[in-house]
This record gives sequence, C-alpha cells and structure tokens, in this order.
Amino acid sequence: MGRSVISLDDLTRNNLGTFKKINEVSLPTRYDDGWYEKSFEKNHITKLAFYAELPVGAVRAKAFNSNQIGASYESNQNSKSVQEGVPNSVYVESLAVLKAYRGVGIGTALLNFVIEDTKKRFIHEIVLHVHVDNTEVIEWYKRKGFEQKSEIVKNYYEKQNIANPHAIILSLRV
Ligand SMILES: CC(C)(COP(=O)(O)OP(=O)(O)OC[C@H]1O[C@@H](n2cnc3c(N)ncnc32)[C@H](O)[C@@H]1OP(=O)(O)O)[C@@H](O)C(=O)NCCC(=O)NCCS
Repeated sequence: MGRSVISLDDLTRNNLGTFKKINEVSLPTRYDDGWYEKSFEKNHITKLAFYAELPVGAVRAKAFNSNQIGASYESNQNSKSVQEGVPNSVYVESLAVLKAYRGVGIGTALLNFVIEDTKKRFIHEIVLHVHVDNTEVIEWYKRKGFEQKSEIVKNYYEKQNIANPHAIILSLRV
C-alpha cells in the first residue's frame, strides 16, 4: 500500500520559514516574527501539509477563551488576553493552501486535524474570523458545517490595509 499523496507534519524551527512563505503568498493578512514565534507555545495547534512531499499548506489555531475575543485583528493576534481564562474554544488563526494545490483535499485534511485536536482537548467549539468579501472561503467553511455566529465585526481588519475591512465570525460545534 503506497503513502497517501497528502500528509501532515509538525511545525519545527527548520520549517518555520516555509510556514511563513505559505501564509505570505496565500493570505491577505500579515503576521510579524513575534506571531510566528508563538507557534511553538503549548496552546497552539500547528501543522504543515505536504503534497507528494512538497510543503503546500499550513494551519495554526489556538485554544482560548471565546469570551475574550478581541474586536480587531491585531488584538486577537497579539494580545495576551485571548490566551487567558479557561479555554472553551479553538480559534483558527490561519489556514492556507497554495493556490496551485487547492481543491484536492489539503484544506480539509488540515481542518480535520484541528477538529480532532480540539476534541482531544475536550473543547467543543471552533471559531474563526473571515473577511466579509471572502465569499468562497465563507462558503467552504459553511459546507464543513460552520455557522455565522455574529453580526458583521466592523473594521476588524482596519489596520491590515484591506478594502472593506469587516469580518464575520464562523463557528463549528464539535
Ligand atoms: C480555504 C482553503 C484553505 C481551502 O483549501 P483547499 O485545499 O482548496 O480545500 P479542499 O480541497 O479540502 O476543499 C475544496 C473543494 O475541493 C474539492 N475536492 C476535490 N478533490 C477533493 C478531495 N480529494 N478531497 C476533498 N475535497 C476535494 C471538494 O469539492 C472541496 O469542496 P468542499 O468545500 O465541498 O469540501 C483555501 O482555499 C485557501 O487557502 N484559501 C485562501 C486562504 C484563506 O482565505 N484562508 C481562510 C482564512 S482563515
């Protein structure tokens, strides 16, 4: 029996640059070096995805307390507050697959890993922000069972230099 063409592996210091590159070319949002450094903290769930040994996708999520969700992109990426309190949710911070490798199940494999890890932590909700105009991605999450949780979060991406910088929150019970 051959190996599956899609595989997942841990993030290490050696492939941190690869993780950065995948995010930089796939996502409209930017993360600083401090953000990448936090990937190794215990409350984070991080995986790289490989297609026939090539690194082509990545996910980072963190266990946190959803009552402390911030009103802006920066507050959720940088503030300590979201990491305090008893974790009751897993927050997907980034999920990206290189364009040329989309549509073959890599995003699903990464999301399924997060779902399984969330259950192992005895946490029952996964949440994330998506840009309001990112309808393809919003539909993708909805097909996975996510539901829109709130009204539009106005100016969520204000400092990220993105047009129409509003977000919606999507949530999945697991
Ligand atoms: C959203 C995103 C991660 C999805 O990744 P992906 O690898 O294309 O996702 P998948 O291939 O698993 O799913 C896409 C579709 O491919 C199709 N597909 C084709 N072959 C497939 C296979 N072998 N297995 C699963 N799905 C397959 C399915 O129809 C699937 O449709 P679904 O939505 O009903 O599951 C990717 O589009 C992306 O990186 N987007 C830009 C970044 C972004 O905005 N991220 C969100 C911010 S957190």
